[in-house]
Amino acid sequence: MSDSNYNNFHDTCMDYQPFEEVMAIYQRNSALTEDELFEMDETEFRARMRERSHHTLEIQLYANQYRGKTLSDKQADIAKKFLRVWDRRELSHDLPEYKYVTFLVESAEKLSKGEPVDLSPYKPHEVTKQMEEDFFTILYERRSVREFKDQDVPDEIINKVLDAGLWAAHGCNVQSIRYLVVREKNEPGLFKGSDVPGGPIHLVICQDLRAYRANDFTPNRNRLLDAGAAGQNIVLAAHAAGLEGVWLTFPNDEFCDRLKKKFNLPDYIRLVTYVDVGYGDQTPHPPLRLSVDEAVLGRL
Ligand SMILES: Cc1cc2nc3c(=O)[nH]c(=O)nc-3n(C[C@H](O)[C@H](O)[C@H](O)COP(=O)(O)O)c2cc1C
Repeated sequence: MSDSNYNNFHDTCMDYQPFEEVMAIYQRNSALTEDELFEMDETEFRARMRERSHHTLEIQLYANQYRGKTLSDKQADIAKKFLRVWDRRELSHDLPEYKYVTFLVESAEKLSKGEPVDLSPYKPHEVTKQMEEDFFTILYERRSVREFKDQDVPDEIINKVLDAGLWAAHGCNVQSIRYLVVREKNEPGLFKGSDVPGGPIHLVICQDLRAYRANDFTPNRNRLLDAGAAGQNIVLAAHAAGLEGVWLTFPNDEFCDRLKKKFNLPDYIRLVTYVDVGYGDQTPHPPLRLSVDEAVLGRL
């Protein structure tokens, strides 16, 4: 295709909203009243709490700690508003966003009094040469495997792989990722039409679109990238956990509708993509990649 044909192609997922609209949404999100936050559905509320705390407190805390930027004495106000509504909604204090936002608010209080915040327990392990080598072995030796042994995979291993998907980077930390797990033997034929018929375990990567009400000021592209980031963690984690698998494409709406119907899923759950995993029974030749030199279009 010539360049001029590409010029006619409107890549809608790359569209940006005008800056003024983005700022208006941003301000509206911050100004939501406690009653509005109390009344909205829990998924949206929790996503908004993660997003607002990230953008109005987390980023500023680190800018203060590492770059000396002033922390306003109102910096934690929005996060505190969410914590008040959290209790009004009687949500559990064991849930992750409650713990995290509490940590952020306490840290802001310490920093504004000039006290240090101790982050040393969270310092990552030093990456040894062996760890580096192991990581790159997993990365380069992961293959799309489409033949599987007839051997059950324990739920613990599946959960480990799914958890890896949840730990992927995620735009504004709204955490939209949800899953369906289907063992072929429990529901033979549900994935009829798949490129890998009979793939032993189907891990469907879904998104709860209610989470995106929290960050509808960000470019559209980020939503599918969130699912892609989860997918990449999943295929790597599967290989690291002794499984093999292949990332697959839903061929049409009928396929997704069949699954949505089976699980009685509402419209706000979107089925994005899926990965089949199991104990592999195939050694593919690696489909070789472009060299880095060919892939880098510019370097300054
Ligand atoms: C988004 C995405 C969709 C894919 N869809 C399919 C598919 O529908 N059928 C299939 O057999 N493989 C599918 N694959 C696997 C690719 O064919 C495979 O990753 C590629 O050929 C490179 O091989 P490798 O994964 O072994 O390195 C998909 C991979 C990605 C990332």
